[in-house]
Amino acid sequence: MDNQTFDFGMVGLGVMGRNLLLNVADHGFKAIGFDKDPKKTSDFEAAASAGTTVKGVNTLEEMVAQLAMPRRIMILVPAGKPVDDVIESLLPLVSKGDIIIDGGNTYYTDTLRRYEYLQPKGIHFIGIGVSGGEEGARFGPSMMPGGDESAWQQLKPVLTSIAAKVNGEACVDYMGKGAAGHFVKMVHNGIEYAIMQLICETYDLLHRGGKFSNEELHELFSNWNDGELKSYLIEITAAIFKQMDPETGKHLVDSILDKAGSKGTGKWTSQIAMDLGVAIPTIDMAVTMRTISALKSDRLAAEKLHREMQIRLTNAASATSLSLDKKELAEDCRKALFAAIILSYVQGMSMLHTASKDLAMDIPLHNAVKVWRGGCIIRSTLLGTFYEAYQRNPAISNLLLDDAIAELVTQQIGSLRKAVSLAALNGFAAGGLMNALTYYDAFTTARLPLNLLQAQRDYFGAHTYERIDREGKFHTQWT
Ligand code: 6PG
Repeated sequence: MDNQTFDFGMVGLGVMGRNLLLNVADHGFKAIGFDKDPKKTSDFEAAASAGTTVKGVNTLEEMVAQLAMPRRIMILVPAGKPVDDVIESLLPLVSKGDIIIDGGNTYYTDTLRRYEYLQPKGIHFIGIGVSGGEEGARFGPSMMPGGDESAWQQLKPVLTSIAAKVNGEACVDYMGKGAAGHFVKMVHNGIEYAIMQLICETYDLLHRGGKFSNEELHELFSNWNDGELKSYLIEITAAIFKQMDPETGKHLVDSILDKAGSKGTGKWTSQIAMDLGVAIPTIDMAVTMRTISALKSDRLAAEKLHREMQIRLTNAASATSLSLDKKELAEDCRKALFAAIILSYVQGMSMLHTASKDLAMDIPLHNAVKVWRGGCIIRSTLLGTFYEAYQRNPAISNLLLDDAIAELVTQQIGSLRKAVSLAALNGFAAGGLMNALTYYDAFTTARLPLNLLQAQRDYFGAHTYERIDREGKFHTQWT
């Protein structure tokens, strides 16, 4: 192979890097990948489709030397210091005008820092959120590029061809200035956390409360996935209930320890939402539930203690099965889940709306929901509905202010109330559903009781308050 003939380079041939680069090659681009590990480069070459041009190399020098200019190099290594290390190693090898892409789940301010570091050196740096896991990377991810717009224009042909497609539209588009790409991906992950938690709470109500077997849950979720809940996360949940464990011969889901892991993107979403002053309570609760799930041994001891205490003090243990008709429970759960999922997207999008202005990213919100319709973990038919809402009103501050979305939520909200009450009365931890409902109730209540809170603040701290009948700041001598 002659020098400088490859179209696209990848640093890091782990699961995501390898699959994304194979996808690039499948679309007619000559793809070269670097990994220190010779097994990874040979696995990559062996996995290539017939007729494609791929090459794996074990030094960055070899990779950079064989890329056509301006070079397009994507980094897919764990977020954090490894990205800085790769950039430092690339710097002596690349030339002005080359494009370095970070495709990982990077904290957005790191992206800004790297952009500012590389810009004076004449290197385009662009942060791209990539979603869809292994399968998505291989056959069509959703991608969220932001920042350097000229770099995006140069990358567009490659990214458009490898992205997932919905109604002929590629699931990749420009997300806005600065670190908008990684920011939008982070919020995507926050919504992902929320929806996963909501599905788990619904599963708990149905399985532990309604005594639905795994087979019944498989049926139910499969049916849900044929209707308005249609989405990737519902689809894989249906499949999970069917999976048997070859070791025990039982359903695998029953043998999995109830301790959740996380890599931090959900937590970042909550932390940054707090900083921005945006309410995303369902995402916050999803993060919190993962934290509580980790306390396995304390939970075991606490369940025993509190159950015994309850029996001793009240002569009754809280019910573990819900006395409800199964069909009715299933239908209420479906609608409750649907409402809470809508409210999770609503919260995430309101965060993007605020971040767009306050962090000067100018995020085209319709582009975010557009690229999420396919390829990513939170893809769902609902996103098409949100896409239409943003087309009607691109500047809408909160999707609950859109007539069609308001109607959709109103149709399900009674069931969300029912599911939340059932959970509360029977001791099921359903904070995601509860917080979604609270968000809805707070957002749709014109007068909240926080007039009293303002009075309290003024009482003890002379913090002043505003009035409903006059402009200005007021202070009262309360005593
Ligand atoms: C995606 C996923 C992906 C990853 C999450 C998992 O969009 O493809 O979001 O980025 O699966 O980072 O996050 P946790 O390990 O924190 O659950």
